[in-house]
Amino acid sequence: MDVIETINKRKSIRSFKPDPVPPDVLKKIVEGALRSPSASNSQPWEFAVVSGTKLEEIKQAYLDNAQSKPSFDVPIPFKYPEPWNSRQAAVMAGVLGTMGVAREDKQKRIEWALNAFRLWGAPSCIYILLERSFYSADGGTNVWNLFDCGLITQNILLLATASGLGSIPAIQPVLYPDLLRKILNIPDSKLIILGIPLGYIDSSSPVNEFQAMREPLEKVARFYD
Ligand SMILES: Cc1cc2nc3c(=O)[nH]c(=O)nc-3n(C[C@H](O)[C@H](O)[C@H](O)COP(=O)(O)O)c2cc1C
Repeated sequence: MDVIETINKRKSIRSFKPDPVPPDVLKKIVEGALRSPSASNSQPWEFAVVSGTKLEEIKQAYLDNAQSKPSFDVPIPFKYPEPWNSRQAAVMAGVLGTMGVAREDKQKRIEWALNAFRLWGAPSCIYILLERSFYSADGGTNVWNLFDCGLITQNILLLATASGLGSIPAIQPVLYPDLLRKILNIPDSKLIILGIPLGYIDSSSPVNEFQAMREPLEKVARFYD
């Protein structure tokens, strides 16, 4: 698959088949992504690649903990200003729409949210970790660490696509980083910033038909010469 085809094929998958992903496929995806660039070649990323009973333990712990207040390691704004708020709302409406969940149906919305804690049925998840002291270097925030993690995330997503897998970069799997640290025996010195659930695509689920819109080129880019 060439790179343009892979970029176009990749999209966020929100329903997976339970079939396990062979460990060597997971290994090749992470290993291949290690060629990603990073500021000063600092390679700030680390990974926890979780499948099987450990992942089931995490899913159950998340469901048991679902009423607790989230405690992200990296804060997220809950209210976006415009125009970004409309884009966020459109994704939410589009995803719920494909599942036939009405905006006012609170119960079904809760059920859908819990589905995220089941990692949408994914049999594996790649968690991206950062060393806390490097992220908070010089008493500020080293945002380039997150930038670098974004770059490697995209490569993981593309390599997963090229391996015939579906994936989704997601914050929901890292809502409770302390739970993850406990179950995976990860020290407090490591931040857990993103989860990438991945597995084989459940093509029978309408949610996977959803295609998120993009702003047109003319709106976001100016060309100078
Ligand atoms: C950093 C990041 C965090 C995200 N977190 C979530 C999430 O928690 N839940 C979710 O359903 N989608 C999440 N997404 C997926 C986005 O909604 C998705 O990438 C966007 O709507 C574009 O759609 P596409 O990936 O299908 O092209 C996240 C994406 C990124 C890059």
